[in-house]
Amino acid sequence: MDSNEAGIKVRQLAEEINKHDYNYYVLDSPVISDREYDLMKRELEKLEKEYPQLVTPDSPTQRVGGKPLETFTSVSHAVPMLSLDNAFNENELLDFVRRAKNLSGVSNLEYVVEPKMDGLAVSLLYQDGGLVRGATRGDGQVGEDITHNLRTIKSIPLKLKERVDLEVRGEVYFPRKAFQDLNDRRAEQGEPLFANPRNAAAGSMRQLDPAVAASRPLNIYIYGMGSFEGFPLKNHLEMLNYLKSLGLRVNPHTAVYTDFEEVIQACKDWSLKRYELPYEIDGMVIKINDLKIQAQVGYTTRSPRWAVAFKFPAEQVETTVEDIQVSVGRTGALTPIALLTPVKVSGSVIKRASLHNQDILREKGVKIGDRVIIHKAGEVIPELVKVLKEKRTGQEKDFIMPENCPACGQEVTLIPGEVALRCLNSTCPVQMYERIVHFASRGAMDIEGLGPAAARLLLENGLVEDVADLYYLNKERLMSLDRMGEKSASKLLEALEVSKNNPLSKLLNGLGSRFLGGKGSRVIAEHFKSLDRIISASVEEMISIPEIGPKIAASVFEFFKNPANLKVVEKLRSTGVNFKQVQEQGKAQEQLFEGQAFVLTGKLQNHSRQEAQNLIEGLGGRVTSSVSRSTNYVVVGENPGSKLEQARSLEITILTEEQLQQMASSEK
Ligand code: IVH
Repeated sequence: MDSNEAGIKVRQLAEEINKHDYNYYVLDSPVISDREYDLMKRELEKLEKEYPQLVTPDSPTQRVGGKPLETFTSVSHAVPMLSLDNAFNENELLDFVRRAKNLSGVSNLEYVVEPKMDGLAVSLLYQDGGLVRGATRGDGQVGEDITHNLRTIKSIPLKLKERVDLEVRGEVYFPRKAFQDLNDRRAEQGEPLFANPRNAAAGSMRQLDPAVAASRPLNIYIYGMGSFEGFPLKNHLEMLNYLKSLGLRVNPHTAVYTDFEEVIQACKDWSLKRYELPYEIDGMVIKINDLKIQAQVGYTTRSPRWAVAFKFPAEQVETTVEDIQVSVGRTGALTPIALLTPVKVSGSVIKRASLHNQDILREKGVKIGDRVIIHKAGEVIPELVKVLKEKRTGQEKDFIMPENCPACGQEVTLIPGEVALRCLNSTCPVQMYERIVHFASRGAMDIEGLGPAAARLLLENGLVEDVADLYYLNKERLMSLDRMGEKSASKLLEALEVSKNNPLSKLLNGLGSRFLGGKGSRVIAEHFKSLDRIISASVEEMISIPEIGPKIAASVFEFFKNPANLKVVEKLRSTGVNFKQVQEQGKAQEQLFEGQAFVLTGKLQNHSRQEAQNLIEGLGGRVTSSVSRSTNYVVVGENPGSKLEQARSLEITILTEEQLQQMASSEK
């Protein structure tokens, strides 16, 4: 074959393969066998290898291009990528229509109803029919260039059927089944799990190496155009059909209605039918069909007035409260937890739901044996919605919060102004455990090899009672433990030895005074320079430091008035732990969360707000109160507020508490 013939063959094969990709990935209806397809692809690869000059960027062999990128580049959207206003019920839908009718002066509107895909919004730019750029939405004005990842999605044509210039928008999503498989695999390999398919889609697109996205079966539906200037289109449906004719994948569950009652009915129907779809949708989008009327009703700065997102209510499931357990946290707070008959809710199995504290427990009126309704708040956190009192048989048992700590038996206290009952016994084993884990954590003394399992082992065998005892461990004692070999024992002792030289800020954080975290510890350590000066400081002296408020000041002051704590300090001193602030921490060594901004929303299960903040700040991160474009992560607990919505619309990575914990304990 000469190079002319090869050129013809390469073009033929590429065209043929593109057509089959289209049949398979866009239309979901393959017309040839996998084997025939593979043979064609192999032939093309072989020819392209022989004649590299014949390789074109839109060849089906070029989806995964070259090496990983170094960084992401910013992309300015010529037309901003807006978000949608939400409607949570029928009335809010009616408000939307009323406003649209008023603004347009038209009373017989036509509506298009489409599934609201729960994925990642992207923009695809085609020039002369070829895909030249793909980007995330970012904050709507500026996103990130993710062309390398979008090219790996087989249902995105690298070349359209016409040589047009246009920008289209759509949602990249992770099919439900593939998501389960991915998480199963990750669980097997001990890798952190994705909270939901949406995070998996976003996580896959935020990779510098396109091989990651290529290995995942991501997909896309296109739902609009950046601008339709120059296109003779009358309405939204026509536009969708046009996009379809260009080879783009458009959701087939799109319908037009003229009667708004039908729109409402369609929304209701889909709240049930949604689970039959092979992907997750979190609502339906209702759009005014006529493009002229769309232009008339216009936009707010945030969203179009010609469209609205009807959000499905969270899936509610009935189950039984089999028991109520009480857990004790590091600060001694008692949290009642409902143990449930396992049920599947919004895609995962739920076995427990926190009841927060005795006030909420009383308010909900839960008894053991009750039939209850649960849901996942923000589609993430399990929550008990209500007790089905009408289903009681009389066999249910009252539950009363214990008067004594379930871990140590000491009487619990209700501190005025607080909601949680607290165990104030500083030698309570659960609290001892939590304190040791905290002391050894990365943000504090950073003792490698001393995680939750090792802490439990040491406590259960009576080797330690407080954090100072850690420094009195020796090889012989460690090796007497069941699961401790010589190697791990030496390693742990070495890590402990190294930690003695930590700057004071880390020690102060590790001691675990309430409300004091990484940042506060640094500020105080920098100011006083030595632990002895901190111990003898007055509350006033501490408050005089900018950044230190009265709550932290009082807590630190009280901490060092407590004889039990002073005893630990003296023990630490005699083992040679450094009590001085040697150098500014954080400058000396780059930290895990350096430069990362976190926002917390909702009630967390295992950490108080302050503890979560301490954890983040201890690793060099910042915690801010509101979500913005510069936020890197939003950590959600129960009853998350509007911040969760904001995070979603800005496409910021959402973390559960477990995921935060996992990140915090991972290697940098
Ligand atoms: S239209 C100008 N249609 O929902 C408004 N959006 O807050 C453009 N989404 O991140 C949005 N399915 O990515 C539209 N059928 C659909 C959608 C959809 C999902 C996402 C979109 C955006 C969010 C809107």
